[in-house]
Amino acid sequence: MTTIAIIGLGSRGYMYARHLKAQGAKIVSICEKKQTLLETSAKTLGVDPSKAFLDEKDFFAQGKIADAMVIATQDRDHYGHAKQALELGYHILCEKPVSPIKEQCEELNELALSKNLYMVVCHVLRYTAFYDTIKKIIDCGLIGDITCVNLVENIGYYHFAHSYVRGNWRREDETGPSILAKCCHDLDMIYYLTGKKAKTVYSAGYRKAFLPENAPEGAPSHCLSGCPEENTCPYHVDRIYLSPKKNSFPFMFVKRRLICEKPGATRKEFKEKLKTSPYGRCVYKCDNDVMENQVVSLKLEGDIPATLNMTCHSNRIYRHTRISGTKGEIVGEGGKFRLNIFAGPKKTYKFSLLEAIGHASGDKNIVKDFLELLRTNEVAPRLSLMKDTMESHLIAFAAEESRKTNKIIEMPEY
Ligand SMILES: NC(=O)c1ccc[n+]([C@@H]2O[C@H](COP(=O)([O-])OP(=O)(O)OC[C@H]3O[C@@H](n4cnc5c(N)ncnc54)[C@H](O)[C@@H]3O)[C@@H](O)[C@H]2O)c1
Repeated sequence: MTTIAIIGLGSRGYMYARHLKAQGAKIVSICEKKQTLLETSAKTLGVDPSKAFLDEKDFFAQGKIADAMVIATQDRDHYGHAKQALELGYHILCEKPVSPIKEQCEELNELALSKNLYMVVCHVLRYTAFYDTIKKIIDCGLIGDITCVNLVENIGYYHFAHSYVRGNWRREDETGPSILAKCCHDLDMIYYLTGKKAKTVYSAGYRKAFLPENAPEGAPSHCLSGCPEENTCPYHVDRIYLSPKKNSFPFMFVKRRLICEKPGATRKEFKEKLKTSPYGRCVYKCDNDVMENQVVSLKLEGDIPATLNMTCHSNRIYRHTRISGTKGEIVGEGGKFRLNIFAGPKKTYKFSLLEAIGHASGDKNIVKDFLELLRTNEVAPRLSLMKDTMESHLIAFAAEESRKTNKIIEMPEY
């Protein structure tokens, strides 16, 4: 039986743990710095309490006690955790982004290669049925040679408010730029689908909505302290968390565990927590600084143009995908895409609701491919090893440099 150790039992780590367990792996040790999450996770995952650690020093001091380690801590912690894990000889499943610091990404890549260890990065879109099907269509030549790629990442106004204004990814110095944190998936997708690396990068960004000067007059620091705009503000916590709409319900439902720091909190407990939680803050009175809207223009190998547009102002969470080829095109939105072969048939491919709003199938499938890799040593083509992951991260770093300098950036050799 494959054995796994996990550090970080928040939303992602706990989700991977459940998939790993469901797919036959044994979670032998966990590390989580929040006491309640540690205790409840150990219990539900069947981990011996003596192998459940609050302090990472005790966790790593055990040495190598499993076949692989899952790293699902926050963005700026991955580097230190991955380095220690690789030095102990672990294969790793590491959350993206690997690090907002280029030199740290390069170091981990070299370390994994030199030690002959697998460092798989959770570019989970690769494993969704939506992109898996698109990849197969491209690879078998149905749309000919790719001539242009346009992707739009619609973050969703409520998701952006949750994660990038009130939550964990709101500040660049704590996590990284939003084009890396949110869109390294999409930048990876441009590389994965076309097989072409970027030669040059240009980017422009915008941040004008979630600023103190836009706060309604008399707005308190927290929505539930009597905001005069509670009936009209789209970001009011009652509308977003307590009475979510059809579009925001599935996303917001799972956030209750994170905000209350325990599973199974009641609505009353949730409301109480939002009165003081950072997630209960007025969106115009937070300490956020990451970009809200950004466009990245690439010239790929072969001079193929590609763009990625990230926007926070969308009604739903979905991705728009347009790939043009010499013989056809793929045009997708949310959970479906259309394949138009110019001199042949046209076909619509439809996927489940979960595919439309996120990457739930990708989360499950990356675990499947990772366990298969550990069992067989065969690297499935869709696995995003650290050496493949460098491309999406280097594009994001170049995009930030371009946005700040207003210059076209030549991509480095690596
Ligand atoms: N692949 C994807 O599509 C995807 C989606 C969302 C988030 N992410 C990434 O996954 C990572 C985790 O995100 P999340 O949403 O689960 O965040 P989270 O805050 O819910 O979980 C992180 C957990 O790590 C714990 N932690 C942090 N430092 C620790 C330490 N030193 N020792 C022990 N525990 C520690 C925190 O207490 C927290 O519970 C982030 O890097 C994030 O950017 C990836």
